[in-house]
Amino acid sequence: MTNLQASGTTTTPNVAVGPAGRALAQPMDPALLDALQQHLTMERRASAFYFANALWFGERELRGFSKFFHGESQSESTHAASFADYLVARGQTVQLEEVGAPRQSWASFEEVMAASFLLEADVTASLQQLYSLAERSSDTRTTVFLDPIMEGQIQSEHEFAHLLGRVRFAGEQAAALLILDAELAEGNNNPYYLGERFSNG
Ligand SMILES: [Fe+2]
Repeated sequence: MTNLQASGTTTTPNVAVGPAGRALAQPMDPALLDALQQHLTMERRASAFYFANALWFGERELRGFSKFFHGESQSESTHAASFADYLVARGQTVQLEEVGAPRQSWASFEEVMAASFLLEADVTASLQQLYSLAERSSDTRTTVFLDPIMEGQIQSEHEFAHLLGRVRFAGEQAAALLILDAELAEGNNNPYYLGERFSNG
C-alpha cells in the first residue's frame, strides 16, 4: 500500500529530513555534497576576484573593462546564490567558507586577462567534477540542475578566450586598448557567431 491509498488507520507518513530539518526527497552522496559546497565557495571567490579586477581597471581609467568585470563579479555572485538555493532545495545546510582577499596587483593587462581566463577554465573543471560525481551516485536532480550552468560556463570560457586574444593583439598600446575599452563600455564582449549563439549563459 502506498501513502496515497486509504487505510483504516491514520498515521503520518514518515518523511526523511536533512540536517536543517527540511524534508528530504533523496539523500545526497557525501562526496557530491562536499564538492557542491566547495564549488559554491569557488563562485564566491570568482566574484571577489572579478570585483578586484573591476577596481584595478577603474584605477587605470579603463571604464569599459571595469564595467565588464563588475558585471562578471555580479554574475558569479548569482551563480553562488544558485548553488546555495539548490543545496537548500535538497534539504542541505549551506556551509559558508572563508573567501579570502583576491589578488590585486598585476604586471600587465594581458596578465589579468590570462588569469581570468584560467579561472573560468578552473570553474569548468569543477563543474565537470560535480557532474561526474552526480552521475556516479545516480543523482539526476543534480545533473539536471548543472546542465544550463555548464552550458553558460562554456560560453564564458569562449568569451574570455576572445577577450584575452584581443588584449594580446592590442599589446600595451593605449590606442588599441581604448578601442577595446569602448567596446566593453557598450557591453560588446561576445565573439562573432557565424551560426546561432550556442548558449544564453
Ligand atoms: Fe560562475
